[in-house]
Amino acid sequence: MRVQGAINVEDFRELARRRLPRAVFDALEGGAGDEVSLRRNRTAFDRIEFRPRPLADVAERDLSTTVFGERLSMPIMLAPTGAGRLARSSAEIAVARAAARADIVYMQSTVAAFPLEEVAACSTGTLWYQLYLPPDRAEVDNLVRRIAAAGYRALAITIDTPVLGNRERDTRNRLMSRPPHPRTLLQGAGKPAWAADFIRGKVDFMRGQLGAGRPGSPSPLSLDQTRATITSSSDCVTWKDVERIRSLWEGPLLLKGLMRGDECDRLVELGVDGVVVSNHGGRQLDGVPATIDILPEVVDAAARRLTVFLDGGVRRGNDVAKALALGAAGVFVGRPYLYGLAAGSEAGVLRVIELLRVEFDRAMALLGAATVADLDRSLVSGARIPSTLSPSAR
Ligand SMILES: Cc1cc2nc3c(=O)[nH]c(=O)nc-3n(C[C@H](O)[C@H](O)[C@H](O)COP(=O)(O)O)c2cc1C
Repeated sequence: MRVQGAINVEDFRELARRRLPRAVFDALEGGAGDEVSLRRNRTAFDRIEFRPRPLADVAERDLSTTVFGERLSMPIMLAPTGAGRLARSSAEIAVARAAARADIVYMQSTVAAFPLEEVAACSTGTLWYQLYLPPDRAEVDNLVRRIAAAGYRALAITIDTPVLGNRERDTRNRLMSRPPHPRTLLQGAGKPAWAADFIRGKVDFMRGQLGAGRPGSPSPLSLDQTRATITSSSDCVTWKDVERIRSLWEGPLLLKGLMRGDECDRLVELGVDGVVVSNHGGRQLDGVPATIDILPEVVDAAARRLTVFLDGGVRRGNDVAKALALGAAGVFVGRPYLYGLAAGSEAGVLRVIELLRVEFDRAMALLGAATVADLDRSLVSGARIPSTLSPSAR
């Protein structure tokens, strides 16, 4: 199968699996612990059923939406992922370009391979930035200034990573061992197309780093800094950090990784604009519910004061329709575009986006929704809608 022959996200997953060494595929694919939450993210979508509204005029459909005052071609967005370079050396550059061509949001990760300025310079689209707080909090001001100066429109603080989740696939594959484990090298040698791209990318990266190291020029985080940032216990984001970043950042501020509704009042008080209901794609605390099961609780608690997004397990346009019907303003996908990146760089990412767009458009038509505003709770059943009655009154 070739990229052009792939007709859905699962096909792209298979293309990625074939192209990548096992340890690399596992690093993208895996979750934490027993991967219970990873599986739940998917099975919960399958449990929700559609209740289409017949006879609506859906001859013409409009998938576009407005988020934080900006018109986007559709409410599907690309989530921040720090492992793009493992999949393809073009990494975030390819992803940002594909998102711009599709006119959708791309949220770049703090632990991206390319400096945030470089990604911004090659994109004409809407970029948001995902923030892991540097262990040295004194660096926050400078980082936030750089993000604003580069033109990122919204900032999302990830709040579900006080320590790294227990990714046992990576431990077993000895992904982090330096020098690389002989088995990893052997796996890499067995995937020559991937290996050639990886080595070429690494050489270019080192050259870039030499330039980037000059005084005044920004650099991405090194692998060691990256590890320190995402494993350091000082990355415990607290309410105080949120307050501080709110005072530094003028644009829309989101928190990514909220999994309960009862924090919403406090977030509104702090001036937060939105949340991403997310369990980090099942990669952090294993055992948390599926995100689609928590979405209605957060939407109800937010009561239109926060813009609510969802990620986790979205693999079909139909999943997008379910999340929007349950109140999400948009959904992010992570692994689907990483499969596209691995399989076909920028063209692969773009094709994944366009396949999801076609599926979402068809789902809207079959549901009887001509615009995204027509997607409401009456169109789905089987979701976990919180009861407004107190437990004793039920
Ligand atoms: C390989 C990989 C790397 C990720 N890196 C980050 C990251 O750097 N920052 C972050 O906030 N979330 C990160 N995430 C989580 C995603 O932003 C998103 O929450 C998740 O992938 C959504 O689930 P899905 O992959 O099922 O679509 C990562 C996810 C994956 C799969």
